[in-house]
Amino acid sequence: MQWFLNSTQAFRVGWVCWKKDRRFILAVRAFVYQALPRSGFEVVRFTWWCLSSYGPRLIASLFVRRLPEVRSFSSDGALNLARQIRAVNLLAPTKMCLVMTKYGSDKAQRWHNYTPVYSALLKRYRDRPVRILELGLGTNNPELRSSMGVDGRPGASLRGWRELFPRALVYGADIDRNILFQENRIKTFYCDQLDQAAIRELWSQPDLQGGVDIIVEDGLHTFEANISFLEGSLEHLRPGGMYVIEDIVQDTAEKWHDQLETVYSRRYPTLEFAFVALPNDSNHYDNNLLIIRRSAQADTSSAASGLNSSLATASSLTASL
Ligand SMILES: C[S@@+](CC[C@H](N)C(=O)[O-])C[C@H]1O[C@@H](n2cnc3c(N)ncnc32)[C@H](O)[C@@H]1O
Repeated sequence: MQWFLNSTQAFRVGWVCWKKDRRFILAVRAFVYQALPRSGFEVVRFTWWCLSSYGPRLIASLFVRRLPEVRSFSSDGALNLARQIRAVNLLAPTKMCLVMTKYGSDKAQRWHNYTPVYSALLKRYRDRPVRILELGLGTNNPELRSSMGVDGRPGASLRGWRELFPRALVYGADIDRNILFQENRIKTFYCDQLDQAAIRELWSQPDLQGGVDIIVEDGLHTFEANISFLEGSLEHLRPGGMYVIEDIVQDTAEKWHDQLETVYSRRYPTLEFAFVALPNDSNHYDNNLLIIRRSAQADTSSAASGLNSSLATASSLTASL
């Protein structure tokens, strides 16, 4: 009986720490990381996530719907993208959640839950020979900004994309030259998203000629850095393609709404913009996405010239920031 009471007490203390103090979780994680070989740590991490997040969400999603909050910006009033996103139940885990977490990306872990939205929007690309570029490989150098920490796995999401899109070519870019790599169907390049010359150099790579179908920006995560990469990259998004900016900080939401309403939706008539807030009990700080879809008909001459002439004036905005 005493043993039972002690255990119950220990469980209660642990549970309170777990709910109230993230340092407790980080301490346990650091202990497991040091105690086990890397592969063992990955197995524990993935199993823990399946038991504590994937499973409960799967069950909860049978009874509860948690929907994204979407603000749509489009000069011609098109709301298709927003409608599609609003129908996604964020609680319902998908294959993409499993795959991304298995490789060590944070796109589907507790802090972020982007993968249900991506699964819905990207399923049409699944069996196509698409080209995907992600900025931000996930450095494990703790000295660098936006680092994934010492137990991060550079290239995690690129490997996830490769598995999920079996005919795709996957490209990555990062400011950390030490983590660049090349594997079957994956190639990575240097890029500093704050530097327009570096962005131009990235897009001048022979592999990237003709543009890409999906761009995911998961780099520095500041408003200025987002705008800088967007300005230098939007013209390389193919018709029908999708551009996503991850981890937008809540404090900048108003600034983004204003920018999308007064500048971008007017400047780019062939693009639909959706600013998406994903309700998440663990993260009220930066669980927002900007999703941009380029119309599939955008290669008609007027639409293309609309995008291209808009882009000619785009650099002025970057300069003004
Ligand atoms: C959050 S991590 C990316 C995680 C990865 N996409 C994943 O899902 O596993 C952010 C990355 O952005 C990179 N980064 C930081 N500042 C940058 C900059 N100015 N230009 C390009 N990349 C930058 C960091 O080196 C880091 O690798």
